[in-house]
Amino acid sequence: MKRTETSVDWQDPDMFEAGNHGNKPFGIRVPSLVVTRGAKNRLNFLTAMWFTPTGFEPSRMIVAIQKRTLTYDFLLERGEFVMSAPTDKMMDIVVFAGYISGRDVDKWQAAGLTAVKPAKISVPLIGEAIGNVEYRVVQQIPFGEEMDLFVGEVLATHVRKGAVEGELYREDSNPLLYMGTKYSPDGKPLGKFYTHMSTVERANYESPLLRKYLPQPNKE
Ligand SMILES: Cc1cc2nc3c(=O)[nH]c(=O)nc-3n(C[C@H](O)[C@H](O)[C@H](O)COP(=O)(O)O)c2cc1C
Repeated sequence: MKRTETSVDWQDPDMFEAGNHGNKPFGIRVPSLVVTRGAKNRLNFLTAMWFTPTGFEPSRMIVAIQKRTLTYDFLLERGEFVMSAPTDKMMDIVVFAGYISGRDVDKWQAAGLTAVKPAKISVPLIGEAIGNVEYRVVQQIPFGEEMDLFVGEVLATHVRKGAVEGELYREDSNPLLYMGTKYSPDGKPLGKFYTHMSTVERANYESPLLRKYLPQPNKE
């Protein structure tokens, strides 16, 4: 089939301004605490935002971990981790774990977290979290000088009782949401910001646009 050329009606980008962080429009997400355990059984966790869930069955998580972290060492030692989704009451712990290294402080003890028995691995769940997922490292992918990507296969998922309806967070379940870093006009970071969930809305599948282009059943 011959393709016809389409001419594009280009508009000036007057409605946009440059964001000074590459992924700014995708800033708001649930932050994660990545829990690990060393060969000598020490527990540790860091705050991570460079992660993405991938695929249904098997479901995997890709998370970028810097080589200088204690988490990196513990991932190599045990090949297992837990990713914890904090509630909005855990902001203090999320901020703390994102700045302090387990190389300097026993963060698990300092934060006073509750170690809950996992189902499949030997790294604890965080009792205070809104949800925890257990992973086994199935791949480690070099990603530049400073970090590697770790691919974790989901082995078990634990969601706080009453926090979800079906597969969704309830409106009043209060997961913590990370918004990103605010910068001054000259590019100085003014702090990282967090927010709270306020409403849950159902997507509109009665949308006129969707209905117009959904494949219609044969009318024979
Ligand atoms: C909001 C936020 C997100 C972060 N995301 C990541 C991340 O995805 N990967 C990473 O290696 N470090 C990330 N960091 C930095 C680590 O949390 C930090 O270096 C931590 O102190 C390392 O702890 P550890 O040495 O105990 O493993 C992030 C920090 C903050 C504040």
